[in-house]
Amino acid sequence: MKKLADIVDKFKIPAQFSLERYMKCAIGLCGQCCVDDVGWRICVEGPVFWRDELRLITEFGKYRRDAAGVKHSLI
Ligand code: FES
Repeated sequence: MKKLADIVDKFKIPAQFSLERYMKCAIGLCGQCCVDDVGWRICVEGPVFWRDELRLITEFGKYRRDAAGVKHSLI
């Protein structure tokens, strides 16, 4: 998905991305699906984000989280 984001940036194509995250409540209460650094909840503020919004999500393309919330590097 990060590579696709780079391509839409290169060709200046407006694009939206649907993110996934392990969820517990899916109604915005538990915080399991929050993304760094903005703290948006994927289950409430997402899951679809414009490319410009993705730039604020510092973890996008850098790491993923497993079911326990542990970070795993993608780089
Ligand atoms: S899954 Fe609980 S806040 Fe999103």
